[in-house]
Amino acid sequence: MRKAIKNIIHAMSLLILVAMTTPHVSADTPAAYEGRKLYTSYCQLCHGTGGQGDGPLAKAMNISPADLTTTVRSRSDTILKKIITGEGRQTITGRDRHNLLSEAMPEWKDVFSESQVDALIAYLRFLGRSRHELMGDPEIGMMLYQKYCHVCHGVDGDGEGIMTRLMGITPMDHTNPNVTDSLSNETLVKSILDGKGRYMPAWRGILSRSDVEALVSYIRLLSY
Ligand code: HEC
Ligand code: HEC
Repeated sequence: MRKAIKNIIHAMSLLILVAMTTPHVSADTPAAYEGRKLYTSYCQLCHGTGGQGDGPLAKAMNISPADLTTTVRSRSDTILKKIITGEGRQTITGRDRHNLLSEAMPEWKDVFSESQVDALIAYLRFLGRSRHELMGDPEIGMMLYQKYCHVCHGVDGDGEGIMTRLMGITPMDHTNPNVTDSLSNETLVKSILDGKGRYMPAWRGILSRSDVEALVSYIRLLSY
């Protein structure tokens, strides 16, 4: 009897060990990707899809929602945290006080966790810095990326997927904003559809154009 229990315990601990050591494919989702989802639900109404302060509620507001694509550039993460949560907003002084005269911007401290606020800030950085708009749906893009691209470009997009060592290739590092920002949406779409160099495969026939646009949008968010 005791031996049977011992065996069961042994088998169970082996299972747990296997579960712990099996490499898993899904990494944490990129911050700006998470931030975009939150932004779409909570901020877009006033600040607009592209952050320009032109959301559907903007007309109803006495104070215009800020154009985030320009205003957040000069703001530090600490200041943005205070603005978004409302905690310590009153302590903001000097030039950072600019644009913050009203209470029209809601206080979100009880709505978001700390990591969600960080994710929102990552997306605001994308809105402020990226020269390219998101052309497709990044959520579809992420699904396709995890299916087709991570083996070479890496789960996190850093270009260090499992195939790189096997093949001795160096795929593009999607987490470097200087690299991705230097290429237009059309250039990226074309490289994905038609391939590039010797080892970046052409996906025409496997992926539709709208699939590829979704992928380009996801790739852009990987670097913020
Ligand atoms: C009900 C409308 C409304 C919603 C929803 C809203 N905001 Fe605002 N926001 C405003 C207004 C209005 C201002 C400008 C306040 C002022 O000028 O005093 C503002 C200002 C800001 C600023 C300061 C801009 C600057 O000058 O740097 C940031 C950052 C900001 N909002 C982020 C967000 C984020 C992130 C969300 C979603 C979590 C959000 N806002 C949701 C109305 C809104
Ligand atoms: C077999 C490995 C491999 C796979 C799978 C792969 N790539 Fe690549 N990718 C590469 C390599 C290698 C390069 C660098 C090509 C060069 O510059 O010569 C590259 C480059 C790129 C570039 C940069 C193109 C440019 O214009 O500079 C993009 C964008 C890209 N890949 C997207 C994707 C997407 C999206 C997927 C999934 C649908 C994918 N890749 C799947 C290997 C791969």
